[in-house]
Amino acid sequence: MKKRIKIAANGPTLSRIIFGTMKWGEWGWKLRTRAITQLIEESIEAGVTTFDHADIYGHYTTESDFGKALKVRPDLRKKMEIITKCGINLVTPNRPQHKIKSYSTSKEHIIKSAENSLKALNTDYIDMLLIHRPSPLMHPDEIAEAFTQLRAQGKVKYFGVSNFSVSQFEMLQSRITLMTNQVEGSILHLPPFFDGTFDQCIKKRISPMVWSPLGGGNLFTVSGEIRTERIKKAANVIRERVGDIGLDQIYLAWLLKHPAKILPVLGTARIDRVKDAISALKIEMTDEEWFTLLEASTGKEVA
Ligand SMILES: NC(=O)c1ccc[n+]([C@@H]2O[C@H](COP(=O)([O-])OP(=O)(O)OC[C@H]3O[C@@H](n4cnc5c(N)ncnc54)[C@H](OP(=O)(O)O)[C@@H]3O)[C@@H](O)[C@H]2O)c1
Repeated sequence: MKKRIKIAANGPTLSRIIFGTMKWGEWGWKLRTRAITQLIEESIEAGVTTFDHADIYGHYTTESDFGKALKVRPDLRKKMEIITKCGINLVTPNRPQHKIKSYSTSKEHIIKSAENSLKALNTDYIDMLLIHRPSPLMHPDEIAEAFTQLRAQGKVKYFGVSNFSVSQFEMLQSRITLMTNQVEGSILHLPPFFDGTFDQCIKKRISPMVWSPLGGGNLFTVSGEIRTERIKKAANVIRERVGDIGLDQIYLAWLLKHPAKILPVLGTARIDRVKDAISALKIEMTDEEWFTLLEASTGKEVA
């Protein structure tokens, strides 16, 4: 399997494995500029060139942590693709105007958020902007107007959504081209495999992205739980056939085998895990192995 993929006919080419930045800063590892710079550089070297952000990560601080690294090493910008998201309003001292957690998909909010992201990230374009969560108050005409303006100004190249249902995707896609739907998906979280999300992506010839591809770490940390133990046992059998690899690579290979051409968004800040994820592209899982893991997850054989 190739390290890079064109995610839609007129869409961007991204690395097949995406590096999520959610826990790089305030919400996790609290990396300093030098460590972030090194992580970006080593990740690009390994073949993971696409970085997933959101305005809210680290209570609205992680984009600027990343931007500080790009200020030190502006040459890295042209070697990477940046995805970011907008549309969630968090309650935090960094946004005292937010009284409760809410969503905003107004034209004004989307444009302002993208402009804030550009500034924080120290870049003059974003490769892809996603609406982070579907809002019950969203209207596709308004979102399309914002996207059209941002694209015309060269501020954002491509657009997509995250956590959208099939019908919400269809509604927005009726007004503007969307390149992806980033949803939760893993051997522990199966809904998009069966609720039409991935079918819709195949139908539209776009690739979905999945967040928490390793169950947010629960595949490793929740021990003694019957379901995870069953999954681990099934994965260990595959590991014996394939050779000296980690369970994380088996779980990623399971996602990568799906015909929707899923792009997993990793949630680590460890370069060794990133390199292991790239190696998972080489694993060829048989159909029977894929179904063995599915059965281990659901606890029953397919009908
Ligand atoms: N669109 C959305 O609504 C949305 C929502 C949530 C997240 N996201 C994106 O998705 C990204 C990934 O989410 P996630 O953090 O839930 O992903 P994840 O990759 O499923 O989980 C990451 C966790 O798994 C652990 N892990 C990975 N490999 C391991 C191994 N071999 N052994 C033990 N532990 C292992 C990591 O530990 P270490 O830290 O020790 O490596 C980390 O705690 C985020 O960074 C963000 O960019 C998007």
